[in-house]
Amino acid sequence: MGSGSEATCLTIPEHVLTSSGRRMQRLGFGTAAYPLVTPEVTKRAILQAIELGYRHFDTAYIYGSEQPLGDAIGEAISLGLIKSRDELFITSKLWCSDAYGDLVLPTIHRSLQNLKLEYLDLYLIHWPLSLERGLYEFGVRKEAIVPMDFVSVWTAMEECQRLGLTKSIGVSNFSCKKLADILAFANIPPAVNQKKLREFCNANGILVIGYSPLGASGTLWGSNQVLENEVLKEIADTKGKTVAQICLRWAMEEGVGVIVKSFNGERMKQNLEIFDWSLSEEESKRIDRLPQSRCSTGELFVDEHGTFKTVEEFWDGEV
Ligand code: A2P
Repeated sequence: MGSGSEATCLTIPEHVLTSSGRRMQRLGFGTAAYPLVTPEVTKRAILQAIELGYRHFDTAYIYGSEQPLGDAIGEAISLGLIKSRDELFITSKLWCSDAYGDLVLPTIHRSLQNLKLEYLDLYLIHWPLSLERGLYEFGVRKEAIVPMDFVSVWTAMEECQRLGLTKSIGVSNFSCKKLADILAFANIPPAVNQKKLREFCNANGILVIGYSPLGASGTLWGSNQVLENEVLKEIADTKGKTVAQICLRWAMEEGVGVIVKSFNGERMKQNLEIFDWSLSEEESKRIDRLPQSRCSTGELFVDEHGTFKTVEEFWDGEV
């Protein structure tokens, strides 16, 4: 692939969501930046990503990236990079302080307005808990956490899909137990869970999409354990690839979806250059054997006096 901003000719593998028939690139582009950046920086990064061939974009109300994503989509259409919004797959998420049955519809309308779109491709419940109404800080106040009324929230999510405001609905950060609670009464089952519960999700026709495949280095909740891993470095050196490329290729070969965030032109290009080579069986086995650990996002919601007293409790023991 050449340099600069030329479009990639590599084909990103797609998954067709059964609930909507919509095609979704399995390598998606994350728009949450930490430390925070200006909307203009976000918009430019997204525009560059569209130019490079990314078509699946992951945003959320709480990231503050819905408006810049909407602006970038408008600009991409005027520049002729895409013909219409229909060529993109757009995911947004319901934040915890909006996770009440009566707030879901007004909240998706707000996201659509921010994005200047008529519909989302996928709308996710961001976390399996509610927060006091009106709280939009990312540094969560633990005393503001309340258990979510899954029935009223999920029923309102189903209404969003019925009304055509989103093509599919799903969840994020749900344990098997919490997913099972939803499946017990859902008329429309979740299409996606942005978390690892592979067997359970496969058995229920739910696609798993992993976030932070590179370990979210540089953020409050991530670490450099992935990018600095010696086994991954060794495999990368042998193959003349980067550790990030090894991680993303491994995820693609596992058949899951992945959201990777880079606002750096060279790295966003590099993250796409994973489709014309593969890992050997031995390399895949070495990666499978690496010790796993969960990034610390769940700790944001844990307090000894609160709704979730330990990280284990938050993840229903599935740590
Ligand atoms: P940057 O935006 O400066 O490229 P994750 O997707 O796991 O949450 O990781 C995101 C972090 O990893 C960001 O800080 C991003 O920084 C960095 N990153 C993204 N792609 C690469 C890459 N190919 N090599 C090294 N770091 C990367």
